[in-house]
Amino acid sequence: MKITRRSFTLAALAATAGLYFSGILNGKVLKTENKMKSNKVKRGLVVWYSQTGNTARIGRLIAATWMKAGIKVDSGDYRELENINPAEYDVIAAGSPVYYYEVPENFRGWINGLSRIDGTPVASFVTFGGKGGNQHNTAYSILEMLSDKGGVPAGMGLFGAMSTFAPTWSAGNGDRVLKFKDQPDEKIYSRVREYAAEILQRVNEGKTFEADSEFSFSDYISGGVSISGTKLLITGHSVNTDKCIGCGKCVESCPVNTIFPDKGTVDTDRCIACLGCVNNCPVDAVEMKFMGVKQSGFGTFFII
Ligand SMILES: Cc1cc2nc3c(=O)[nH]c(=O)nc-3n(C[C@H](O)[C@H](O)[C@H](O)COP(=O)(O)O)c2cc1C
Repeated sequence: MKITRRSFTLAALAATAGLYFSGILNGKVLKTENKMKSNKVKRGLVVWYSQTGNTARIGRLIAATWMKAGIKVDSGDYRELENINPAEYDVIAAGSPVYYYEVPENFRGWINGLSRIDGTPVASFVTFGGKGGNQHNTAYSILEMLSDKGGVPAGMGLFGAMSTFAPTWSAGNGDRVLKFKDQPDEKIYSRVREYAAEILQRVNEGKTFEADSEFSFSDYISGGVSISGTKLLITGHSVNTDKCIGCGKCVESCPVNTIFPDKGTVDTDRCIACLGCVNNCPVDAVEMKFMGVKQSGFGTFFII
């Protein structure tokens, strides 16, 4: 049979339709039997993971919006919120950056380690750099994990920011990153306020948020696969002890305790390539090469 452009297109369309109807190309709908424990909100928890401040800004604004509405709110990076009992709250919002097309694995681990929150309304939020980084499914994934703990979905928010992934600018794509340098901006902050208010309204009305995931090829290369691929291209990850001022920022930011500035070493086997050490060193003392090119944190990137 002669393959023409028309027959090829028709065959491709038929194959796509087949995949669609077989369900392979569909997203998932978040189904839950969890019932809301109360629609009176007195105490809220806003928790996030943030390496370079973008997600923290969104989290703080959600907390401020809820406080303005008369709610008592506890908020912070999950690493600062020790001894919290999540079941004590009437509503929880949890957020993180998108890393490697999904929820950063340390934050995923923290959520999975939480105790039960049966009936608590839960919402997710993410910040991300640029377009097409699997942001929707990352926010969905946080919501899914919280509802697996017994939470009742109450919202999902996606907020753009500047990318903090150093290899992007070290590879000469700095201009693309800088287009987003003012984000999150007032336009995004006003969406954050709306998102925070919508969560409360939904809970007051006893309604559940209907969340669904999208089909995305990024899901196949997300997380571990991408991290391992990135790590293969990283060399010389260490601390330059001559430059180091001993401020401890790299240790504080490393979510998996793999950086030892006193010795100048990094446990690269356990490192999850979040670049927190590179991004938070104020004196550019964390050494890392990606494809042979020295990486500098996003603060340094702004001034060079
Ligand atoms: C290691 C790493 C991986 C990233 N991967 C993605 C990604 O897959 N998709 C995306 O949209 N943004 C990605 N980004 C950009 C961040 O999600 C974005 O800059 C985020 O706002 C950073 O949040 P933070 O300042 O709270 O740490 C990545 C950034 C880093 C450092």
